Amino acid sequence: MVNCALLSGRGMGMMHGGNFHNHPDAEVVAVCEMNPELLEKAKEHFGVPGYTSIEELLANCDAELVLLIVNETRRIPPLTELIAGGRNVFTEKPLCGLEGQARVREEDLKIAAPAIKNWRDSGLKFGIDFNYRFMHHFRKLHDDVADGVLGEIKMVHARAHFNCWSHIIDLILWTIGRPDWVSVVGDPNESGGWARLIHIGWPNGVIGTLSGTNLWGYDDHPLRIKVLGDKSYSEAKGLDGNYIRRKAGNSEVEERWENEQGNPEMPESFKRMADGVIKAMQSDNAFPADGNAAWNELLFEAAVHRSALQENARISLNDVEADAFA
Ligand SMILES: NC(=O)c1ccc[n+]([C@@H]2O[C@H](COP(=O)([O-])OP(=O)(O)OC[C@H]3O[C@@H](n4cnc5c(N)ncnc54)[C@H](O)[C@@H]3O)[C@@H](O)[C@H]2O)c1
Repeated sequence: MVNCALLSGRGMGMMHGGNFHNHPDAEVVAVCEMNPELLEKAKEHFGVPGYTSIEELLANCDAELVLLIVNETRRIPPLTELIAGGRNVFTEKPLCGLEGQARVREEDLKIAAPAIKNWRDSGLKFGIDFNYRFMHHFRKLHDDVADGVLGEIKMVHARAHFNCWSHIIDLILWTIGRPDWVSVVGDPNESGGWARLIHIGWPNGVIGTLSGTNLWGYDDHPLRIKVLGDKSYSEAKGLDGNYIRRKAGNSEVEERWENEQGNPEMPESFKRMADGVIKAMQSDNAFPADGNAAWNELLFEAAVHRSALQENARISLNDVEADAFA
């Protein structure tokens, strides 16, 4: 049985807590919440003791896994405290964004760097909720690329609403690998989610584009990723579940998959992620999306921010990473 402590009595936290608690091999044994009303509700909901601070939690509870479901604007200090306290941690995305998930800057990477270093030195498990990896259509895209079904990969074409922003970056990196460089058009000084057009290059010559804005809404799916190989090309899109693979050059449909009506993939993906984390705890393996996945997504965003500030300069991810740890 994996004993978990849930940090957060709010919506996302209660959802994750419920998914872990309802799993046959895990249990929420304590809650931590600084808001007294939410703390009382969460204690009652799970029927467990509660604490108002991490210090108190660490002193009184030996849960081996902490579900740290706080906002990206205040994730790093509790993460640092929990790693120092010897606890494995599962958290939400993105790893750090003091101005919110649609405005991640290079400064956020610098804030996260010491926590990532501490985690790497600790031998503990740390992972992030890139739950879209557990949606059937995005996993299918990943697996078809990995299994060579598309042939040699040549191009990536993707776009997303900012609600799905860190996820689409993670999906691209998970499917194609960590890129070498980005080059970005957009103005980070625009308020809110600044519109951005990103060019991406990988070490093996694959090239890609990713664009982000909220202007297109959700009417025609909030995210899409198309990967083009020399044999076939595939597109995975949306939060319900939609995948299509066609022959390169002539568009003949080779495979089509859609979720069953009334069974969207999104809610299931959170439960599958919880299952993956619990299995990783039991088998002593890395979490399904570990701290390196969290770091690489943030690194990509930091490089995007630097490129846009430098008027579309081609920015190497390795250079940005070296500066973050300097
Ligand atoms: N994976 C997905 O598809 C998905 C979907 C929606 C939201 N999210 C992410 O989920 C996260 C949700 O965070 P939120 O906005 O609910 O978090 P939040 O910062 O509001 O914190 C949640 C609760 O934790 C408590 N808390 C925060 N820090 C604490 C501390 N150090 N000690 C004790 N209590 C503390 C707060 O009082 C609050 O009630 C966001 O990062 C968001 O991006 C992910």
